[in-house]
Amino acid sequence: MATGPGSTAAQEREGALAASSELASACRACDLWERATQTVFGAGPAGASLMLIGEQPGDQEDRTGQPFVGPAGRVLDEALEAAGIARDRVYVTNAVKHFKWAPRGKRRIHQRPNRAEVLACRHWLDVEMSVLDRDAVLVALGATAGQALFGSTFRVGTARGKDLTFEDRPLVATLHPSAVLRAESDERARLFTDLVQDLQRARSIVRRSQAGPAAPPRD
Ligand code: URA
Repeated sequence: MATGPGSTAAQEREGALAASSELASACRACDLWERATQTVFGAGPAGASLMLIGEQPGDQEDRTGQPFVGPAGRVLDEALEAAGIARDRVYVTNAVKHFKWAPRGKRRIHQRPNRAEVLACRHWLDVEMSVLDRDAVLVALGATAGQALFGSTFRVGTARGKDLTFEDRPLVATLHPSAVLRAESDERARLFTDLVQDLQRARSIVRRSQAGPAAPPRD
């Protein structure tokens, strides 16, 4: 990645993300690294106008090193497509960057990160937000992402649909794609629609901010 004299601002930002990802690969701020295969840093263009924040990598993300590539990632992909958002134009990351799991037979079962683990990883989220565009719209996918930013009293149910900001950036709170996966079949379609509508709202906030201030009315 080109950095230094002659490189563009976009290249500088990509370089900053790559360097941060490299540093995060050696992170020992909590114990989760011990059982994880690797750190799963965020992925996507540094110039993205949308930043999606999930909880933590799952089994497949831990193996591949990429966020949201397993079953929850497929739900996210479908929801993004339904909302008219190209996944390769958004930055996707997680509040916690190591997979926390417990063995059950041959399977590795997801365990929710605790508050100390979320706080230990907050540094990397701050780094990612600082590198991305100041105008990037944030989307908190689920309670862990929201709590990483707003504290442990954050609830998706009360935050959904509200005009939130985090450090002056617009933020849309929505459910985690795995809530769609876990839902009973009669509930699944409704939750998927909720997720799509929230992503559409984030998309329209991006569009409004890119359109700039409204032209003054003509008399
Ligand atoms: N769930 C998440 O929160 N993040 C991932 O990357 C995958 C599943």
